[in-house]
Amino acid sequence: MNREKARQRIDELSEEIRRHNYQYYVLSRPLISDYQFDQKLEKLIKLEQEFPEFLFPDSPTRHVGGEITREFRQLVHRYPMLSLGNTYSEQDVRDFEERIHKLIGEDIEYVCELKFDGVAIGITYRDGRLVQAVTRGDGVQGDEVTANVKTIRSIPLKLHGEGYPREFEVRGEIILPHSSFEALNLQKEEDGEEPFANPRNAASGSLKMQDSGEVAKRRLDCFLYSIQGSGIAFNSHYESLQGARKWGFKVSDYVVRCRTIDDIFEYINTWDNARKELPFDIDGVVIKVNSFAQQEQLGYTAKSPRWAIAYKFKAEEASTEMISVDFQVGRTGTVTPVANLRPVLLAGTVVKRATLHNAGVIAGLDVRTGDTVFVEKGGEIIPKITGVDISLRPSDSQPLQFPLVCPECGTNLIRNEGEAAWFCPDETGCPPQIKGKLEHFISRKAMNIDSLGEGKIEILFDKGLVCSPADLYELRFEQLLGLEKLYKGEGDKKDRVVKFREKTVANILNGIAASRAIPFDRVLYGLGIRYVGETVAKKLARHFGSFDKLRMADPGELTDVDEIGEKIAQSLRSWLETPRNTDLIESLKKHGVQLEFAGAQTARKSNKLEGMTFVVSGVFERFSRDEIKKVVEDHGGKNISSVSARTSYLLAGENMGPEKRRKAESLGVSIISEDEFLKMTEE
Ligand code: IVH
Repeated sequence: MNREKARQRIDELSEEIRRHNYQYYVLSRPLISDYQFDQKLEKLIKLEQEFPEFLFPDSPTRHVGGEITREFRQLVHRYPMLSLGNTYSEQDVRDFEERIHKLIGEDIEYVCELKFDGVAIGITYRDGRLVQAVTRGDGVQGDEVTANVKTIRSIPLKLHGEGYPREFEVRGEIILPHSSFEALNLQKEEDGEEPFANPRNAASGSLKMQDSGEVAKRRLDCFLYSIQGSGIAFNSHYESLQGARKWGFKVSDYVVRCRTIDDIFEYINTWDNARKELPFDIDGVVIKVNSFAQQEQLGYTAKSPRWAIAYKFKAEEASTEMISVDFQVGRTGTVTPVANLRPVLLAGTVVKRATLHNAGVIAGLDVRTGDTVFVEKGGEIIPKITGVDISLRPSDSQPLQFPLVCPECGTNLIRNEGEAAWFCPDETGCPPQIKGKLEHFISRKAMNIDSLGEGKIEILFDKGLVCSPADLYELRFEQLLGLEKLYKGEGDKKDRVVKFREKTVANILNGIAASRAIPFDRVLYGLGIRYVGETVAKKLARHFGSFDKLRMADPGELTDVDEIGEKIAQSLRSWLETPRNTDLIESLKKHGVQLEFAGAQTARKSNKLEGMTFVVSGVFERFSRDEIKKVVEDHGGKNISSVSARTSYLLAGENMGPEKRRKAESLGVSIISEDEFLKMTEE
């Protein structure tokens, strides 16, 4: 395809994909199948790779992410991001309405909206293109998170239609829908990481990730609720939202105009009940004066507009008796206190258990067995205990003692300095830890031995056949045939017997054998090293190429790896220094498990950069930073995050941080340009 034709095809495809994104993510009315959509996107990605000069900043392929933000710049908002006056009381809403009536003295129209529980964002568009996105911060200045915001598919990178000002800002709330939140936390738990407490925290954490490719996977969403700027040709807030919708923004369908206080309360009450059915969190309702002229007349206080108020819903709460507390030991040994409650109805479900998080929370609440406690469900994974009704405390109650030894294996518990959680250090002798680690090793994203799922691995452990991942590879047919276990059904669930018949055993052994082909990065992830989740494992595997090289790494070399900080490095070092882990690796190696990253070698285009390390910094003319990094790897080189004596080259783009240049100069590290670098990879 010649350049002209390619340019034309890229333009057509971009336009088409933009339209389908809008249909799917904004209107929820897809016109084509996911498969057809993916095909178009892939075609566009390919063409842009072939003709990088036509990869534009507003291309819909940017939604896939890839850009890395090392440090989030602080930017001052052109229009300060104010907050809303908040209230939980109906009377305050009445007072608000009366005050406005007095000040304006005429018929007033209000707009009622949902108050989204997420992260506020201000996004600037120039000539119809997204140029900048900044978080609220302290209202005066916030973090620039443009690359990450660009991955949100319901936010247009290029506007539709016409009539928008040359430059303006939209304000909205970035949220994480329930389905994405649940999937994310499941993943976190599988990775042995702390799950997010609620979708708001998850959205906020996601926006501050350095790798926008990872942000893209989180499936954030955004509802727009206002437009700022001069030259906005609307007379009212409601009109402006309808206009924004036509330009491609996602505006809530539940925005209504009303005139009386009764209408306002009807809206509030409807949503206080119906909010449970929404696929995302809201924490109240916002009431705004509709007319821009009236808004101007009413003006602002120092912190918030006088023309709007937020009515917040009360968190749903119930009180019940705490019968006992279990201390649960997880895969990484952390001990979590979980309260057993007298069953109580809360937010539509019967609650029997609630978390007490850690020893600090127990002490802070001084909660005791037999106490009447308050339970709240505020978007958290399991409900939490928020307080105790001391007036109902039995006279003989005793303070709750956090165990000193592991409730599962009796080992003395320990606590790391600065951390809230106590944990059992006996990784090899504590049953839930061993079982948890085995379950993690066979899990889908690690070795994917699903024939051992549904409790089968537990049976092997209980029968003493498997204690460590390496034991799996020693299992023989006759050891497994005929094994069985009875699972007692709880409540209305029936008893269930799991029995290993011939077919089951063959499946298990085949699954284990097939896992020998699982690539190194997933093996590394499957080892369940604290803080080494899927992404970190991939980065380490790609960087070092083999387990042996990882083991031999100098102390500083670990933190040189992109996105590997001191916490991860320390956890890795301590794992690598433990003799039984060395034995485990030797044993896995003997059984043919992949401990080398074969893919890295075979996928290479050349070995021209073999043995060289690069720090890529700044903005480049022809490639994004990620694309350049890929070229480094394609030719056998390695990317590292900071300049040190081990760095071969500092690959300098525009606007590179002066600190990096200074450091490279002082250490005598060669500084090269994009062109010089590309020459190194050419024939
Ligand atoms: S209007 C002058 N409308 O609530 C402030 N805010 O304190 C104008 N929020 O963090 C804000 N849903 O991000 C407005 N429909 C909505 C909203 C909304 C959520 C958030 C906003 C800010 C807080 C206001």
